Amino acid sequence: MRILGIETSCDETAAAVVADGNNIMSNIVASQIDIHSRYGGIVPEVASRQHVLTIVPVISKAMSEASVTWQDIDGIAVTFGPGLAGSLLVGVNTAKAIALATQLPIAGINHLEAHIYANWLTVPPKEKADIRFPCLCLIVSGGHSDLILMRGHGQFEKLGRTRDDAAGEAFDKAARILNLGYPGGPAIERVASSGTPHLALPRAWLKGSHDFSFSGLKTALWHLVQKEKILTNPSLVADAAASFQYAIVDVLVAKTIEAAREFRVRQILLSGGVAANKLLTERLLNASPFPARVPPPHLCTDNAAMVAACGYYHFQNGQLDGYELDVVPSLSLGSPQGTGNSSPHDSNS
Ligand SMILES: Nc1ncnc2c1ncn2[C@@H]1O[C@H](COP(=O)(O)OP(=O)(O)OP(=O)(O)O)[C@@H](O)[C@H]1O
Ligand SMILES: [Mg+2]
Repeated sequence: MRILGIETSCDETAAAVVADGNNIMSNIVASQIDIHSRYGGIVPEVASRQHVLTIVPVISKAMSEASVTWQDIDGIAVTFGPGLAGSLLVGVNTAKAIALATQLPIAGINHLEAHIYANWLTVPPKEKADIRFPCLCLIVSGGHSDLILMRGHGQFEKLGRTRDDAAGEAFDKAARILNLGYPGGPAIERVASSGTPHLALPRAWLKGSHDFSFSGLKTALWHLVQKEKILTNPSLVADAAASFQYAIVDVLVAKTIEAAREFRVRQILLSGGVAANKLLTERLLNASPFPARVPPPHLCTDNAAMVAACGYYHFQNGQLDGYELDVVPSLSLGSPQGTGNSSPHDSNS
């Protein structure tokens, strides 16, 4: 079964063709980073206008790189939330227009669920991902730091979330404090590689809860930068970046393993843009007593292959949507633990 995936929830216009939920036939991502970096963050109005300009060429390229025509496609999977309303609308309306013209079925996909399904994409394509339920999923991205218990396809319980800044947001804000540019995660990682993590920064453990909090760490970094005049010395900037990265990774790794033990999962799945961070993946893979999977970096950040992989399981389970599919910018994933399974279309954030 071949699925066309479409992703426009934030500042990447992306389309991909994926066969059987794991085999990437094409994966096109048009990033707007160069446009937004001059503003130090994403400007929603600019993002949606850029999606309008790029979406059709990106889909055409995904189809031609996969060497397929519409007759070869079995369904369209499109992100309908969470994300920026104007950006989501471009993807969803394009998907509906194609569905109407081609009579292909359509499935609305939760962007967070799609991040998790990046773990099902395999290289080489003939291999199937060896994933065993229940899994503990850590989604760490620009807008989310969620710990999700996944009992099977489409069955998600939310164990924890961030109470303030998401991990990626904290990286982006820390990079701004250190004058390292946008996006912050890759910039901090690059500069941190020449520093040592010896500066004292706090960790919010939030004992007894699976939630995260990173805003105190960010504020502590700001105070440290002022007090120690960090910006006057490039080697201190590198040490501050390394110390900040270490502090975030400490908390993410420890709390993920703690939750995995408590819920006796068989596997840990990491996903989201921050999962592209080498220190995080190395420390999690080394420290975890459970098998852990992390997608390659280019499948951690936003892409449409993960949307198509997720769509495959929606189509397999008959979870289809009609032309009434609409965007849900505040969509969340998984009902709170103990309240039963959530529909992937629940909006409970
Ligand atoms: N190597 C890295 N180390 C740390 N953070 C990183 C790295 N690469 C990317 N990031 C961070 O990942 C985030 C982008 O991830 P992603 O594209 O999944 O987020 P998003 O789609 O904007 O948010 P969401 O998925 O919550 O809607 C940014 O905050 C970026 O700084
Ligand atoms: Mg994302």
